[in-house]
Amino acid sequence: MTRTVLVTGATSGIGRVAAERLGARGWRVLVHGRNRDRGAQVVDAIESAGGEAAFHRADFADFDAVRGLAARVREEPRLDALVNNAALSAGEYREVEGVESTLAVNHLAPYLLTHELLPLLRESAPARVVVTASGVHYRGDVDPDDLSVDEYDALDAYARSKLANVLFAVELADRLDPEAVTATAYHPGFVPDTGLYRDASLPVRAGTWLAARVPFVGTSTSEGADGLVYLTDSDEVAGVTGAYFAGRERTTPDSRAEDRALRERLWDVSADLVGVDPDWP
Ligand SMILES: NC(=O)c1ccc[n+]([C@@H]2O[C@H](COP(=O)([O-])OP(=O)(O)OC[C@H]3O[C@@H](n4cnc5c(N)ncnc54)[C@H](OP(=O)(O)O)[C@@H]3O)[C@@H](O)[C@H]2O)c1
Repeated sequence: MTRTVLVTGATSGIGRVAAERLGARGWRVLVHGRNRDRGAQVVDAIESAGGEAAFHRADFADFDAVRGLAARVREEPRLDALVNNAALSAGEYREVEGVESTLAVNHLAPYLLTHELLPLLRESAPARVVVTASGVHYRGDVDPDDLSVDEYDALDAYARSKLANVLFAVELADRLDPEAVTATAYHPGFVPDTGLYRDASLPVRAGTWLAARVPFVGTSTSEGADGLVYLTDSDEVAGVTGAYFAGRERTTPDSRAEDRALRERLWDVSADLVGVDPDWP
């Protein structure tokens, strides 16, 4: 039996490295991203190393595209892991699907994707959902009853989406039988050498460009990918659920992750925004 994983955001950065490593470990890798050329390169790299892979394109700013991706993945006989890793940091305010784009792409799209793929994950149990969040979630602020944005700040928007990732992973874990499907959230460290900052303001891009070149600043893309592979593949974390990891280290997320009312409210509002019944799984 070949285990299958969908890695979203696998055309670049830590997702790309994690996808290639999982391929080398014998996983069939469904490589997701927007850029077809880079997607084909990742598939080639996995296949050249003797692995199995397929590319699936979907823009997470379009929820129909997310549903389409899920429909294509459901044609697979099994899905043993879903790595919700795709994300962006939008330099400017944009609204998609009626919501600020960073929240839509980074939180609502993976919420919807997980909803659509959970039956297949359950059929393939034991299965895992890994959500790439970020340490920046500690400074995020989310009010599910008011997701509007008065004055746009790219870092605030990104931090809000990453807090939503943590709240989602913990709430999902709470709702699932850990013997069937586990859910964890992950912080890779500050990884300046990825594409994440490509749409950021000029000072942020200049700072990260420099940070990527100064020794001992930040985490390498290779190291950043390590924890993703660990949480997806390692027996050491089999059955571990509702936990937040920085690298391979289990650590304490922001105390709001323990706020059940906040988690549930975000869950319900998210369901409403993507058009699914909140009473899942
Ligand atoms: N870099 C850091 O310092 C850092 C720190 C903490 C957490 N993280 C998290 O790590 C994860 C991976 O980021 P990274 O740093 O590796 O960045 P990256 O190199 O920019 O990779 C982001 C991936 O997400 C995909 N993506 C972006 N917007 C998308 C959209 N609208 N629809 C579909 N896919 C989209 C990209 O696909 P295309 O390129 O094909 O468009 C790419 O494959 C993210 O969740 C990020 O929040 C990063």
